[in-house]
Amino acid sequence: MEEVMKIEGGHLLEGEVTISGAKNATVALIPAAVLANGPVTIVGIPQIADVESLANILRLLNVEVTEVAQDHLIIDPTHMVNVDLDNDIVTKLRASYYFMGALLGKYGHVRIRMPGGCYLGPRPIDLHLKGFEALGADVVYEKGCYTVSAKKLKGAKIFLDIASVGATINIMMASVYAEGRTTIENAAKEPEIIDVATLLNKMGARIRGAGTNVITIDGVRSLTGCFHEIIPDRIEAGTFIIIAAAMAKRMVVSNIIPQHLESLLSKLQEMGVKMEVGIDKVVIEQSGKLRGVDVTTRPYPGFATDLQQPLTALMTSAEGESRVSETIYMERFKHCLELQKMGADIELFNGSAVIKGPTHLYGSKVSATDLRCGAAMVIAGLMAEGVTEIHNVYHIDRGYSEIDRKLQTLGAKIWRENVQD
Ligand code: EPU
Repeated sequence: MEEVMKIEGGHLLEGEVTISGAKNATVALIPAAVLANGPVTIVGIPQIADVESLANILRLLNVEVTEVAQDHLIIDPTHMVNVDLDNDIVTKLRASYYFMGALLGKYGHVRIRMPGGCYLGPRPIDLHLKGFEALGADVVYEKGCYTVSAKKLKGAKIFLDIASVGATINIMMASVYAEGRTTIENAAKEPEIIDVATLLNKMGARIRGAGTNVITIDGVRSLTGCFHEIIPDRIEAGTFIIIAAAMAKRMVVSNIIPQHLESLLSKLQEMGVKMEVGIDKVVIEQSGKLRGVDVTTRPYPGFATDLQQPLTALMTSAEGESRVSETIYMERFKHCLELQKMGADIELFNGSAVIKGPTHLYGSKVSATDLRCGAAMVIAGLMAEGVTEIHNVYHIDRGYSEIDRKLQTLGAKIWRENVQD
């Protein structure tokens, strides 16, 4: 039996949705917490499967994890033991690679399996490893496991060939205890990086420049526990704003930082979506006809690759031609094949897709081939005539907090069923 998500499309949505803490910050903040020598309290934790997987990894390391409330964790690494992370749990998500930087930083040694996560085409981690090597570590890869060790970590100047989110965060974590100054040039500038630097600085680290393309880390001797509240999830927020643009009579998307969503909001304005942007919310009104637009994914503050897939679903309802060009993950187009099953008119090229609209979508059996493809399927399902059945929903549950409940509150007809495989 497989649990599937079913959506009866065509119902207008109305009401307010509150956005949860950012998944891609959370999955780095949890491993970062082990760098402390006392309890770290984090609030705003989203209810997602990736958090459960990370908590299980923490337990393997003998870190005490207490769930004080649904969105509130206390992580206490006081009695932590640096065991090998060659367990299957590591391969359930991509972010397990943050334990490389965290354990290397704290103990000068880590042994961990290759990380998992969504397949979006090749996702190398060479820049993470080059960064560790620059700090003085040796990297050995054998039998699916990385062993990274250093007698002593020393600050270094590291230039990233690509502004990688993961490499920037991992190098920050590996260098907080290193002797002297580490400089990351061409660092990624995503808001999640600022959030991780903020947590580490509250613990006593000395990180400057997070959010710009040059970050400096001056090594410290000791880090203490602290309290931290996670920033809102800009990708979940963007997903709900796109849902509202597609299907809402009127929707308020609250607990957001609109500045983190500027590239999406201006694209939606160009499409003709009616919105009012407040300090921590966006109000979306029912729009008339939408216009097709072109979008190219770029590192932050450019258009987020994670919102490209949800936006494609909306583009099927826009008049004329839209083009999506990927510069981050050239193969991130599996959602287009699923949208085609629902009646979308999409032509795929190498690294881009052309969507002709408006097309009428019909409920169909589709697959959430990866997390954001899952979001695109939910959006298409809400727009479509009839019932859409989404398979592989575990991808959606890895990254969207209580998506069914949030949509039901807005008036969507969405439920789960067990069906024969
Ligand atoms: N890259 C390399 N070598 C490296 C690292 C990255 O060539 O060592 C390349 C990647 O292949 C990609 C580009 O650099 O072409 C950028 O990758 P980045 O390292 O920035 O991505 P990531 O850290 O693996 C995070 C998010 C992704 C999001 C990307 C881009 C997490 C856990 N994941 O991945 O989120 O798409 O940044 O913004 O933070 C998602 O949430 O659905 C998701 C996939």
